[in-house]
Amino acid sequence: MIEVSELTVRFGGVTSLDGMSVRFEAGTCGLIGPNGAGKTTFFNVLSGFVRPAEGHVRAFDEDLLSMAHFRRARWGLRRTFQTEQAIESLSVYDNVALVHEHSKLGRANRRGEVLDAIEFVGLRDVAYVKVGTLGVGSRRLVEVARAVVGKPRLVLLDEPAAGLPDAETAHLGELIRRIPEHSEALTILVDHDMSLVSSCCPVTAVLDFGKMIASGPTADVLRNEQVVRAYLGAEEFQ
Ligand SMILES: Nc1ncnc2c1ncn2[C@@H]1O[C@H](COP(=O)(O)OP(=O)(O)O)[C@@H](O)[C@H]1O
Ligand SMILES: [Mg+2]
Repeated sequence: MIEVSELTVRFGGVTSLDGMSVRFEAGTCGLIGPNGAGKTTFFNVLSGFVRPAEGHVRAFDEDLLSMAHFRRARWGLRRTFQTEQAIESLSVYDNVALVHEHSKLGRANRRGEVLDAIEFVGLRDVAYVKVGTLGVGSRRLVEVARAVVGKPRLVLLDEPAAGLPDAETAHLGELIRRIPEHSEALTILVDHDMSLVSSCCPVTAVLDFGKMIASGPTADVLRNEQVVRAYLGAEEFQ
């Protein structure tokens, strides 16, 4: 369980997170909100790129914010970014192995765990192909493989479906739904595709201007008046 209390992040005069408090239980949880709401900033706090001005995060009963950021990968934190991180000139295998290596997981099982992640996303046939030669859908799956390698405890997915055609989004959704059973990781999904969030996440939390405005069963949250109002005029709300 991830317990976030009174998290506040300021960049100069901008308050990106404003006393954010929420709990994420096991399984896959949605985190939605209009552009600029603070979703990526929240992921940056969890992964240690951004230090909050105030607040606490307990992750599986540990104080995550007191953990050095370079220890968090080994502890079991993985994330994807809004821009692809895989190196085009390297193979799928090498790209996933880099995360395993960076996470300082034991060498002994490296090959097996890397191939397991690649198998999980269905890229076994192209494991030794350079990422630069793959199509956009497969490249996105490489990002997911990098996020699930080595039995993580916490997986953060930042708009993994952005710009993907519907069929590839549906395939990605099937994978995301299987992450908790594959790695037992608590997964937080940020995306603007509400049908993806609904199909993957039994519960969803909503950020608006850095504040949590709703959280609970996804269907209820999406009907919540304050949530609908936060999205009014935001064309990505479908
Ligand atoms: N490194 C930064 N420096 C200054 N402002 C930032 C920085 N990161 C985020 N922000 C600001 O914080 C707010 C939240 O941004 P972000 O977390 O990226 O939102 P979201 O991911 O929900 O679209 C925005 O106003 C953004 O401009
Ligand atoms: Mg973002």
